[in-house]
Amino acid sequence: MTRLRLGVNIDHVATVRNARGGAFPDPVRAAILAEQSGADGITAHLREDRRHISDDDIVRLTAAIKIPLNLEMAATPEMLAIALKANPHAACIVPEKREERTTEGGIDVVGQFSRLQPIVGQLVAAGIRVSMFIEPDRKQLDASRALGAPVVELHTGAYANAVGAAQEKLLKHIHNAAEFGADIGLEIHAGHGLTYDNVQAVAGIPHIRELNIGHFLVGEAIFAGLAESIQKMRTLMDEARA
Ligand code: PXP
Repeated sequence: MTRLRLGVNIDHVATVRNARGGAFPDPVRAAILAEQSGADGITAHLREDRRHISDDDIVRLTAAIKIPLNLEMAATPEMLAIALKANPHAACIVPEKREERTTEGGIDVVGQFSRLQPIVGQLVAAGIRVSMFIEPDRKQLDASRALGAPVVELHTGAYANAVGAAQEKLLKHIHNAAEFGADIGLEIHAGHGLTYDNVQAVAGIPHIRELNIGHFLVGEAIFAGLAESIQKMRTLMDEARA
């Protein structure tokens, strides 16, 4: 099986920083440490309300890291302008509601096709690898492909929150969607809510090429340190893949 890439989301290092409004802990320092600890990429979500990552963080991240930066962004003119200026390796298009605590579901590519098309088109034309953060659903996969996005990230949040038979069923949906998406030529990523306990079932799906993980790793870093948390996640992913 191909090696599974790990994208480390450092948003919540910025959440802790912003709780006091100062300069630390610095998410850029976390990104550099993640790079040294086996991360294949860094993910950061510049939200409309700037609740964690700031515009300056994106500028500093771009300069500081050698591994690819994946900018998570809402499909808005403001974020498009920032992405075109920052020119990250990748952009992940997410739905965004001001009142939500996290990205609660995938973006409705089917329903918002005409609104998304010019934004995705401009990012792709600029050479930025676009991924659509979607629910594991065939219609959304077909629409993402029609949009010209080369990558989709399957939302694993419902799977991560479920237990028992319900979780098994949701895992099957993710597996089927990954297989279908790969068959129609999309590169498949997955993420949201992944932990040491639930990562291996997802990591074992052979069509998935990358996982993006943030909140759990930043939480574990309080107890074990960021480097150790990332290395442990990396080991679990590799084991599931072996
Ligand atoms: N992928 C996307 C598109 C996300 O929006 C998030 C959360 O910001 C993640 C992955 C990471 O999720 P978590 O922080 O729950 O690991």
